[in-house]
Amino acid sequence: MIRAIVLAAGKGTRMKSARSKVLHEICGRPMLWYVTRALRGSGITEILVVVNPELEDEIQRFDVEAVLQPEQLGTGHAVRVALERLEPRAGGRIVVACGDMPLVTPEIFRGTAGSLDSPDTAMSLVTVKMPLPSNFGRIVRRGGAVERIVEVSDATPDELANDEMNAGIYAFDESALREAVMQLRNDNAQSEYYLTDTVAYFVAAGKRVRPVLATDHLHVLGINDRTELAQARKEMNARLCAQHMRDGVTIVDPETTYLEPELEIGADTVLYPNTTIARLSKVGSGCVIGPNSRLSHAVLGDRVTVRESVVISSRIGSDVSIGPFAHLRGETRVADGVHVGNFVEIKKSKLARGVKVSHLSYLGDAEVGDQTNIGAGTITCNFDGEQKHETVIGSNVSIGSNTSLVAPLSVGDGALTGAGSVVTKDVPSGERVAGNPARPLPKK
Ligand code: UD1
Ligand code: MG
Repeated sequence: MIRAIVLAAGKGTRMKSARSKVLHEICGRPMLWYVTRALRGSGITEILVVVNPELEDEIQRFDVEAVLQPEQLGTGHAVRVALERLEPRAGGRIVVACGDMPLVTPEIFRGTAGSLDSPDTAMSLVTVKMPLPSNFGRIVRRGGAVERIVEVSDATPDELANDEMNAGIYAFDESALREAVMQLRNDNAQSEYYLTDTVAYFVAAGKRVRPVLATDHLHVLGINDRTELAQARKEMNARLCAQHMRDGVTIVDPETTYLEPELEIGADTVLYPNTTIARLSKVGSGCVIGPNSRLSHAVLGDRVTVRESVVISSRIGSDVSIGPFAHLRGETRVADGVHVGNFVEIKKSKLARGVKVSHLSYLGDAEVGDQTNIGAGTITCNFDGEQKHETVIGSNVSIGSNTSLVAPLSVGDGALTGAGSVVTKDVPSGERVAGNPARPLPKK
């Protein structure tokens, strides 16, 4: 069984942030989330994350084991702290990765661990050709074989001209690693214990260090500042869009369509520009989303149109049209065939089949029965200054334009309110009311 150590305790000084570096997000997930997902994807389930005190509490939500590195004395020291926690296993293999490389893939971890194949190989490491200049450590070879890694702050100009870099992903023979980390010294420019010095140690001991060349440097991009964070987000978003396009979604402009992992989007759905789909949203097939729309924690049926609108924590049926400029939120439930039009806000409400609320309305804490029409400018007055109250409207009701429904209130099936009514008392089924306060109209 291969075990993994993820280094995540670094100060992340170059981010200039109060937050731990690995918690900075790309596409709605912390960087560390992507690294642990890729490790699991490669078949490694035992993951130990080295954390700093700030990260210690927040690490709970990652479902991984964590060990505290109280002081950040370097990557070699971080691995030493982790090894003290891991119980020794004869013949064990340990993959070491950094928590700041969110674009890493399961294949890279598999390839690295798989290269540790002969008994005299102490270590394999991912190397990559990178555009210069770069902050990555440089691979120094002699006669083709890897001899050592030199960190940028310790490198000579000649060494800096070398474009073969250390990606920061390694697999080790466990007993060789345990021995090597005890020998590390911090007599370098940063006074840190470098994990990368294990390479020279193994070579001097006559052991093999196997390089594994990564083909795409973006896959191993280590994020150290916010420009690299933006670069990683762009790349991850492009990957997410590509995946959905392969699955049959039309994305008019992937550059301005913002997706996250773990979304479901049905085939033949079209996403127009400036659209964000976030937080485990599910979109059915044949939908049209955007332009300028945001879905978060939203579940949509098939053939739903959401134009220039926001849908948050809500569940929408099929054949529904929303927008432009609508805002649905707070556990709203919308059944099939509903139309929500311009400048409408709906909060924590239930709309049954075929309801129309076409213009300039607010429905909060309301329930609306099927085929009811809510006229322009209708407001459910749900808040009395202290408490929220409910409005229950039946089926086939006609709410006139500019009606104020003062909750708590119920309006029975087939009832009608005249334009400009201020309804303060329950309206029985079939009754027609109007005025301020609304009173029954004479029977026709
Ligand atoms: C490191 C490598 C460098 C490589 C690069 C790839 C070393 C000495 N250098 O440099 O060769 O090219 O990654 O991205 O390893 N960390 C701890 N505890 C510490 C220090 C760091 O957990 O005491 C963690 C950080 O949170 C980070 C990772 O280790 O996730 C790498 O540290 P970082 O400071 O980013 O190292 P680099 O300078 O990028
Ligand atoms: Mg780094």
